[in-house]
Amino acid sequence: MMSTAHFIQIFTFFLITATVLSSSAPSGFSIDLFQRRSNNTHELGSSPYADTVFDSYGYLMKLQIGTPPVEIEAILGTGSEIMWTNCLPCSNCVKPSGTVVFDPSKSSTYKERICDGKSCPYEMAYSNKSYTKGTFATETIRIKSTSGKPYVMPGTTFGCSHNSSVDFKTVPSGIVGLNWGSFSLLSQMGEDMLGLMSYCFSGERGTSKLNFGSNAIVSGDGTVAANMLRKKEAYSMYYLNLDAVSVGKVRVETLGTPFHATNGNIFIDSGTTYTYLPDSYCNKVRAAVENVVKAERVAAPDNMLCYRTTNMDLFPVITMHFQGGADLVLDKYNTFIINNGKFICLIIFCRPRAVFGNRAQNNFLVGYDTSSQLVSFKPTNCSALWS
Ligand SMILES: *[C@@H]1O[C@H](CO)[C@@H](O)[C@H](O)[C@H]1NC(C)=O
Ligand SMILES: *[C@@H]1O[C@H](CO)[C@@H](O)[C@H](O)[C@H]1NC(C)=O
Ligand SMILES: *[C@@H]1O[C@H](CO)[C@@H](O)[C@H](O)[C@H]1NC(C)=O
Ligand SMILES: *[C@@H]1O[C@H](CO)[C@@H](O)[C@H](O)[C@H]1NC(C)=O
Repeated sequence: MMSTAHFIQIFTFFLITATVLSSSAPSGFSIDLFQRRSNNTHELGSSPYADTVFDSYGYLMKLQIGTPPVEIEAILGTGSEIMWTNCLPCSNCVKPSGTVVFDPSKSSTYKERICDGKSCPYEMAYSNKSYTKGTFATETIRIKSTSGKPYVMPGTTFGCSHNSSVDFKTVPSGIVGLNWGSFSLLSQMGEDMLGLMSYCFSGERGTSKLNFGSNAIVSGDGTVAANMLRKKEAYSMYYLNLDAVSVGKVRVETLGTPFHATNGNIFIDSGTTYTYLPDSYCNKVRAAVENVVKAERVAAPDNMLCYRTTNMDLFPVITMHFQGGADLVLDKYNTFIINNGKFICLIIFCRPRAVFGNRAQNNFLVGYDTSSQLVSFKPTNCSALWS
């Protein structure tokens, strides 16, 4: 048996806890929310977007920070709020070669945020023991726009991280939070964007786009939508209700499991690779897969459900049924992985917290609409879309 690391690559970046370490703001992000820009350089009829790149296991967003602008690549996280980047001086930052570490002293627009007359330290913890610690600051952020001119966001609040530990084997400089908390990049864009964003991940190396505003509306043939729920206690994740999972023709209902009793039982995250379901329900889905697949089971790390075969035809089509009417018929690529050219494994894992990860979203144009509270999915060949 080999180690999980050789077996598959996992990336889990959703926020677990966040603290502002300032007496005026003992918990959560209660520091003053400034008026959002109504006067951006945003031109009517144009939409901002960022180029994204797929880097072995995660999707990174390109943006520019500071004056003069420095380009960074950061994990695109719809399960996170605050944007942060590694900053100098960095007492402890993981720096694989090629990672850009932002130097605030070289930027004329960098400003520390002040809470209580002092600087405003924060700590955030992500899944799998990743964390960032630093101070809140404001900076000018730039992304692209369909007008051809950059979309400029002066005074954007972000975390200047001086101590982080993140399992980056690649080159990201930080994380861009895109959930619906008030400090996410989407929220900081203001009402012009109508709380709209969309992406289309292909799982192939190459560039794609994260769209905001009117260009992020997902509609047309094949589009389905799931209801999005907001929960106060849970860091502004985009929650959905998963009603059932069909394994081939067998529909496995969540009804009757503790999983069903939770309103908003799963959240969708662009920063998590695979999909997680809680044990009570997950085991039913696994059992349904085991009933269908006629191949030799093999022991695998992390209790993965693996078979010694490379014949995908032996595996069932999995459909996820979300409340609101989104029945997502997933490609086998979305739910199974070929490991070491010898095994096929199910990439739905049993974990306490349910997450709908990016691999399962591959080849859907996914649109978030916080004002209508819907997540739309449109089956799309994402590689073809951006080429
Ligand atoms: C927005 O821009 C207009 C025109 O340039 C200006 O008169 C107004 O004061 C600006 N408002 C804000 C909030 O900056
Ligand atoms: C960074 O934070 C970790 C975790 O809290 C701590 O153990 C470590 O001492 C810190 N490192 C530095 C250099 O401050
Ligand atoms: C958590 O991190 C460890 C060590 O970096 C890694 O081996 C493991 O695969 C990670 N697990 C998950 C679920 O991300
Ligand atoms: C998707 O588009 C790419 C690029 O145009 C093409 O190479 C590929 O064959 C398409 N895939 C499918 C399943 O149509």
